[in-house]
Amino acid sequence: MTVHFIGAGPGAPDLITVRGRDLVARCPVCLYAGSLVPPEIIALAPRDARIVDTAPLTLDLIMVEIEAAHARGLDIARLHSGDLSIWSALGEQTRRLRALDIPYTITPGVPSFAAAAAALGKELTLPEVAQSVVLTRTSGRASAMPEGERLEAFAETGATLVVHLSIHALSRVVAETMPHYGADCPAAVVFRASWPDERVVTGTLGDIEAKIAAAPMERTALILIGRSLGAEDFRESALYDPDYRRRYRGFEG
Ligand SMILES: C[S@@+](CC[C@H](N)C(=O)[O-])C[C@H]1O[C@@H](n2cnc3c(N)ncnc32)[C@H](O)[C@@H]1O
Repeated sequence: MTVHFIGAGPGAPDLITVRGRDLVARCPVCLYAGSLVPPEIIALAPRDARIVDTAPLTLDLIMVEIEAAHARGLDIARLHSGDLSIWSALGEQTRRLRALDIPYTITPGVPSFAAAAAALGKELTLPEVAQSVVLTRTSGRASAMPEGERLEAFAETGATLVVHLSIHALSRVVAETMPHYGADCPAAVVFRASWPDERVVTGTLGDIEAKIAAAPMERTALILIGRSLGAEDFRESALYDPDYRRRYRGFEG
């Protein structure tokens, strides 16, 4: 018996990986993390599968489900939205599984920041404009930010910022980043990237708040900030430069 953790992707049901889809289709138990996992993916489970939405459950109750399946030798497809490497509660679940000697696998998924970048039609790293992407959040009721992981500190670097779980704190995000990026810096909010009701609002740090206030959105949204979102006069990358290719042909085989 194995627990298969699967990144379900950002929302569009065809953005799960082939491996993830095949695992859901063959596991007799499917645990999924609430409304951010699309119903079409849950519908891939075998007809007689045990299907449980874990959103209302505590970690202890999720473990009751897992241990019950373990006792019966039933594999579990454990679905979380996006990818498992960020804000998925993977860490606490796998720690419990290791303590109980229950085997598990991890199948990555398309993270929401990648779906948001696609919705914007943007590359988040452009030569000499931004070469780092910071995936972060603001502190919330559920969890405080570790000291040092301050938005201002990230903003100081000029990296492209992708702020999760923070649409309710948009004014704070704008206030803390504006001194570093400037009011004319491109900013965007992508709501429910890749879902049928996806919405994209683009602007600048100076006007994004007013634009969102005019068309309020729900919680599932990402705030993106950075010069990479607007730059058109960036240098082309060395990767496809003819000189660079001649020099490094040997290495490229
Ligand atoms: C608990 S985190 C899950 C992140 C997920 N593991 C990932 O890889 O993106 C939930 C937050 O991710 C963001 N999010 C998840 N799916 C999204 C989507 N389809 N569009 C925009 N933001 C999304 C929102 O900021 C939301 O509050």
